[in-house]
Amino acid sequence: MREKIETAVFPVAGFGTRFLPATKTNPKEMLPIVDKPLIQFAVEEALAAGVKKLVFINSKGKRNIEDHFDTAYKLRELLKKSGKNDLLEQLDIIPDDAVCIYVRQGDQMGLGAAVLCAEPVVGDQPFALLLPDDFIVSRPDGVNCTQSLVDIWKRHHSASVLAVTSVSDEEVRSYGVIGGDRVEDRLTDVKHIIEKPEPDQVSNRLGIVGRYILDPRVFHHLKNTKPGVGDEVQLTDALEKLREESQILAYEYEGVRYDCGSKIGYVCATCDYALNRPDMRDELIRHIKSRIGDFD
Ligand code: G1P
Repeated sequence: MREKIETAVFPVAGFGTRFLPATKTNPKEMLPIVDKPLIQFAVEEALAAGVKKLVFINSKGKRNIEDHFDTAYKLRELLKKSGKNDLLEQLDIIPDDAVCIYVRQGDQMGLGAAVLCAEPVVGDQPFALLLPDDFIVSRPDGVNCTQSLVDIWKRHHSASVLAVTSVSDEEVRSYGVIGGDRVEDRLTDVKHIIEKPEPDQVSNRLGIVGRYILDPRVFHHLKNTKPGVGDEVQLTDALEKLREESQILAYEYEGVRYDCGSKIGYVCATCDYALNRPDMRDELIRHIKSRIGDFD
């Protein structure tokens, strides 16, 4: 019986420049999909997968995230007094048996550098890594992407598992891309990883999306990783080294994913999420239909 994945790391220190001016003072991870911030979706995904320790790698100007997951004592009293008891459950995001830990990242030197900041908290335990920009809707049976990775990690006794998806020739430039041997349906034994390649550098089209189960030995490799693509310390460069000493599997996850790091991805996520909400669906469909003529 393998251990559990009890810790999840959320890198949230980035500037979110693609969403300026909305992100001038507001963290991009707090941008809402209708009425829930992006970071909360990722946190709920980790909690549903059994995580108990939530580690946020944050930076200056990101205090809203800490406040969001804190107890809202005054608001709770106010809702109670005004009889809005139905809203009270919206305030309880973190269960009593889970804990939030915040680690400050000084310089923003890339995803690899952010992940390395988690080492003193994570220690020598395997951990989940979730990039909140990637908004991933659970499979129809309710199993979320992180849970799928944990299940594979347990079943295959593999040290690390990455979520991947098929991307187009053009899109490989925006992803870490993996190649390797197919082990079973949707599962690849990773033999090489390259960050943001040119299309002719890779024969595969499987791009890493923001969900990982990582062997803690990745920290050792991150310490020895020099800045790579974009002059940033790339997690993929450390994973390429990690792969030489322990198995990494890549899972083509089931479920819809939106790249909320891009404006169009964010708008599509918001639209689809609203279309799936019984309280919004009909009115939104009526609105879209009323506009169809404008698109000709
Ligand atoms: C990061 C990773 C990349 C991965 C992507 C997933 O890139 O470096 O390997 O494919 O997240 O969203 P970024 O989107 O931060 O440029």
